[in-house]
Amino acid sequence: MTFNRSIKIAPSILSADFANFGQEIQAIEAQGCDWVHVDVMDGHFVPNITFGPQLCAAIRPHIKTVMDVHLMIQPVDPYIQAFADAGADVLTAHLEAGPHIHRTLQAIRAAGCKAGVALNPSTGIEDLEYLLDMIDLICVMTVNPGFGGQKFIHSQIDKVRKLRALVGDRPIHIEIDGGITPETAPLMAAAGADVLVAGSGVFKGGSVAKPKVYGSNIRAIRAAAEAVLG
Ligand code: DX5
Ligand code: ZN
Repeated sequence: MTFNRSIKIAPSILSADFANFGQEIQAIEAQGCDWVHVDVMDGHFVPNITFGPQLCAAIRPHIKTVMDVHLMIQPVDPYIQAFADAGADVLTAHLEAGPHIHRTLQAIRAAGCKAGVALNPSTGIEDLEYLLDMIDLICVMTVNPGFGGQKFIHSQIDKVRKLRALVGDRPIHIEIDGGITPETAPLMAAAGADVLVAGSGVFKGGSVAKPKVYGSNIRAIRAAAEAVLG
């Protein structure tokens, strides 16, 4: 994974056909996505349950780009090694998931993954100040985590703008997760985000039998985001 700030589209397989992950991943990659976003939910940190390390290991051989694993689980630390072994490239934990995010980020890097930290919509950026040298990605949640297809929370635009200034020249990705469409993507690109997660925004209207819809959805989000960059 080489670092750059170009716009990256990361479809969330939370909106894919759960009976068909392998083909869905092949379809979105063939249609031009940059990363594959994998939403792990535990029914405890968030009010929904998805899948765990075994599913991640099973889909890993289908992912040729970047496997971006978003852990919405509490606790995190006992499961880091299992997700690293499953082949996660980026492993993101929530700041709110425990009192020792510093230790969690250390453990993620020690397991050989890029370390991400995610912030719920109500969480400020001040707690990141002393973590910046141990973070590879900051994920700003633009919906409350737990479900796809929710409405974009506009107050997060200001958070991303402040984060972009805090990050400066450091090689830290700013990722946005939730409610991304061709209408909301440019707001976040202009504010300084480079990784745009989109579940319903990519998968809506398409299927493995109609993969070109995925391609046009991906291109529409990318074009809208890139249009506001110089
Ligand atoms: C929400 C997940 C998101 C979700 C985004 O808890 O972290 O990745 O899949 O879905 P959309 O793009 O439909 O808001
Ligand atoms: Zn996510």
